[in-house]
Amino acid sequence: MQALAGQTLSVPPVWMMRQAGRYLSEYRELRSRYPSFLDLCNTPEAATEVTLQPIRRFGFDAAILFSDILVIPDALGQTVTFTKGEGPQLKALGGQEDIAALKPDRVLEHLQPVFETVERVRSALPPETTLLGFCGAPWTVATYMIAGQTTPDQRPARMMAYSDPETFQKLVDILVDASADYLVRQVKAGADAVQIFDTWAGILDEDGFRRWAIEPTRRIVEKVRSELPGTRIIGFPRGAGARAVAYIEETGIDAVGIDWMMPLVFARDALQPRATVQGNLDPIALLAGGRAIDAGVDAILETLGSGPLVFNLGHGILPETPVAHVEAMLKRVRGT
Ligand code: CP3
Repeated sequence: MQALAGQTLSVPPVWMMRQAGRYLSEYRELRSRYPSFLDLCNTPEAATEVTLQPIRRFGFDAAILFSDILVIPDALGQTVTFTKGEGPQLKALGGQEDIAALKPDRVLEHLQPVFETVERVRSALPPETTLLGFCGAPWTVATYMIAGQTTPDQRPARMMAYSDPETFQKLVDILVDASADYLVRQVKAGADAVQIFDTWAGILDEDGFRRWAIEPTRRIVEKVRSELPGTRIIGFPRGAGARAVAYIEETGIDAVGIDWMMPLVFARDALQPRATVQGNLDPIALLAGGRAIDAGVDAILETLGSGPLVFNLGHGILPETPVAHVEAMLKRVRGT
């Protein structure tokens, strides 16, 4: 929380995106008892346990709520399933009628188990460990709602955004409101700060980036802070590159998550004066281990360590990553 407030710490706080997940045997064991991934997310006792697993094992400075960004479409009535090896499956939204049939009124009620998980995690965590809530950014969530699955280039949503921006805007508006309400409730339940994941922001062109990545995120930040002033918010516009400057200035987020492709000197000179920077070890460097970890960690600490920094990966940890590599990364960051 000190780092999110803009302080430079001698050792930066550290956590990892997807830190609870398949690279941990204790996760795989618990996961095997739930046929459906969303059932696991919606069972507060189990989701609490999964959230705490990486904290117990590694002592990260922050826990991130165990859930998924696609609980929002599910709560809106667009049923989401996860099939092994194929990722999420949704009944793709065809157009205006499908969007009008979404049910924003039932979202918060549907997400009640998540708020219970947040309460349980907060009371179980050591007081010095930050609890992060999160949501997907409207653009990224919309890409899955329109395509119904993961695609290499999110062409279906990009097509709709170009050919029928009015209809696409309606979907984004629904997601802005639902996401802001969702974050407010997470903070009220005990989340100390929240992160907005815009995994597919970088694929947008210049106009699209402003309209579909910056503007909806700006509205969420504004809505959350109008109800809960001072809420700390991390934005993760993956692939934004130089556009991260405008993203910070126009959304008003406190911290910006950077992917591993972001040049560190640019992050230091252009981003850190404007926001806390969070990142950005390449998950493949973590997977490779050894010198790749040492060199990657050292470069981040040397370049970004004299400003406000939260150490993280540049994207989520890969399921094949050995636990020993995570331990090596933590030792290197903390100098222990
Ligand atoms: O960071 C965390 O540890 C918190 C939990 C979390 C998950 N997903 C758990 C999860 C968070 C913050 C997410 C975010 C998420 N989900 C994003 C944005 C960030 C990113 O990683 O790009 C996106 C695009 C999704 C959508 C999603 N969820 C996909 C594409 C998949 C399938 C891919 C895969 O790795 O299997 C998921 C499933 C998912 N979400 C898993 C986990 C631990 C794996 C499910 C399983 O255990 O079988």
